[in-house]
Amino acid sequence: MKVTVASSAGFCFGVQRALDTVYRQISLGKKDIYTYGPIIHNAHVVADLKEKGVKVLQSREELDALESGTVIIRSHGVSREVMESLDREGIEIVDATCPFVKKIHGIAEKASEEGRHVIIIGDSGHPEVQGIAGWCRSYTVVNSREDLERLKGNIPPKAAIVAQTTYNCSDFKEFVDFLKFLVYDIAVANTICNATTERQMEARGLAQSVDAMIVIGDIHSSNTQKLYEICKQFCKRSYFIETLDDLKPVNFQSLRHIGITAGASTPKNIIEEVQNYVRNEF
Ligand code: F3S
Repeated sequence: MKVTVASSAGFCFGVQRALDTVYRQISLGKKDIYTYGPIIHNAHVVADLKEKGVKVLQSREELDALESGTVIIRSHGVSREVMESLDREGIEIVDATCPFVKKIHGIAEKASEEGRHVIIIGDSGHPEVQGIAGWCRSYTVVNSREDLERLKGNIPPKAAIVAQTTYNCSDFKEFVDFLKFLVYDIAVANTICNATTERQMEARGLAQSVDAMIVIGDIHSSNTQKLYEICKQFCKRSYFIETLDDLKPVNFQSLRHIGITAGASTPKNIIEEVQNYVRNEF
């Protein structure tokens, strides 16, 4: 059986950078290290960090109650208001926001200064989108055709469009085309990250040429969910797994070619484990 692992599978630059930042803080011997939310959407990595003493602040209340320590901002970034609230005595901020997300904050801020309403194409429940929203004076989050239809009744005269970095490229294009007809003065910034675009395109190509596709990532990782949706569209036998255990009940015996990809927060060792299992067992 042939097994092909997507070359883009696994940690992206921003996630790797954020993780390296946390490990660097640990190596510096700092005592009270916190991340605001889990540093990446991967339970195994978060558990390892917990063992090394890194605590996760789960809510704004916990963040506000903190009196001392080092707070690491993860790659998703945070709102301006959160940033400002951390600027207080006893707290050291280590900002591991991905530079590509930081760039969106800048675009949102500048667009707001120009009097533009910011339309964020993304998932309103995702921390990255919530962070971006916090750099806008006024904004709307759009994540579906229905959201677009709703916007029809309340068209801003001047708007700017940005996207969540992990958004599906073809959906983004479709939404932008729709919005261009509605808004008189519109500025579009395609802020989908290259790492995401490459990963999605490679997954699509691979899914079209294999008998089954395995997508590895945390169930809460939105970029992995998107990858799975794309794979499922082109390969009916697509499996979304978190660890090798999820794959054990599946029989690939009669298949000739298996494809593997993984989200931006999936550690290499899990990808290797899955790859070796499929190669050796079938
Ligand atoms: Fe950054 Fe792109 Fe990863 S925005 S966090 S490098 S998916």
